Amino acid sequence: MDLKLNGKNALITGGSRGLGKQCAISLANEGVNVAICGRTPSTLDKAMSELKDLDVNVITIVGDISNLDETSQIYQTAVSKLGPIDILINNVGGTRSREDIAETKLEDFIGTFDINLFGGYELMRLVIPHMRQQGWGRIINIASIWGREYGGNISYMSSKAALIGATKHAAVSLGKYGILVNSIAPGSIVHSQGSWEKFQNNNPPDVVKKFIEENLPLGKFGWPEPVGDLVAFLSSDRAGTITGTCIPVDGGQGISMI
Ligand SMILES: NC(=O)c1ccc[n+]([C@@H]2O[C@H](COP(=O)([O-])OP(=O)(O)OC[C@H]3O[C@@H](n4cnc5c(N)ncnc54)[C@H](OP(=O)(O)O)[C@@H]3O)[C@@H](O)[C@H]2O)c1
Repeated sequence: MDLKLNGKNALITGGSRGLGKQCAISLANEGVNVAICGRTPSTLDKAMSELKDLDVNVITIVGDISNLDETSQIYQTAVSKLGPIDILINNVGGTRSREDIAETKLEDFIGTFDINLFGGYELMRLVIPHMRQQGWGRIINIASIWGREYGGNISYMSSKAALIGATKHAAVSLGKYGILVNSIAPGSIVHSQGSWEKFQNNNPPDVVKKFIEENLPLGKFGWPEPVGDLVAFLSSDRAGTITGTCIPVDGGQGISMI
C-alpha cells in the first residue's frame, strides 16, 4: 500500500529509542522527513546512525519536552532545519511516581503531567497554524491502555487519560481544517532499554511467566513495529475518516481492565 506521504515533514518527540524510534523508521520508510528529539545526545546519535541510510532528511534535536522553554526550542529547531511540520507524533511519556493516591505527592502528580501532557499540548498548538493554513495535518498522541482503561500508577493513568481527552477535543475542533488528531494506546511492548525489558531482566522467570499468563492474551509481550506502522497509516489519506479515536495496540491486553 503506497501511503503517499513522500516529502512530508514529521516531528517525533522521544524518537531516539523504543516506540518513537520505530515511528520515525515507519514514517521514513514512507518517504517522510523526520525530526526526532530526546535528552541524551549519545542515544540520538545512535538512532541517527540507524536512520541515516533511509532516503529522507533526518535531524536530531537535544531537548527536554517536560520543560516548556525547551519544547518551544525543539519545535523552532525542527522547523528551521526540516521545514514546516505536517505530522506531529507526541510520543514522550513516563512517570514521576509509581504509587497510588496516598503516596503520590501533588508535585509528582503534576510532574507526570509535565512529561505526558503539557509539552505535547504545547506542540499541538505550535503546529496547528501551518496545518490549518495548508488544510492538511496529522497529530498522533501516544497514550497507553493505562489511561484508556484502568492500570499503572495514578499520575501516569490520569495524565494519559487527559491526553486522550485532549486528543478527542482537538479532533472535533480541527477536523474542518483537514487536521486529523488521534491517539494510540499501546499495551506492554518490549524494546531495548525499555521498561518491559527491565521488568523481564529484573524479575525471576516465574514472576514474568505469571505476568504474561495473567495479562497478555497473545502469551507474549508486544513489539514496536505495529505501533510505528499504525502511525504511518494514520498519517496518510488512507485513514482520512479516522479522527478523535484512541486505538489500542495491545494484543488484547486491555480487555481485562475496567
Ligand atoms: N513500551 C510500552 O510498553 C508502552 C506501553 C504503553 C504506553 N507507552 C507509551 O509509549 C511512549 C513511548 O514509550 P517507550 O517505551 O518507547 O518509552 P522509552 O523507552 O522511555 O523511550 C522514550 C523516548 O523518549 C525520550 N524522552 C524521555 N523523556 C523525555 C523528555 N522529557 N524529553 C524529551 N525526550 C524524552 C527518550 O530519550 P531520553 O531518555 O534520552 O530523553 C526516548 O527516546 C510513551 O509515551 C509511553 O508512555 C509505552
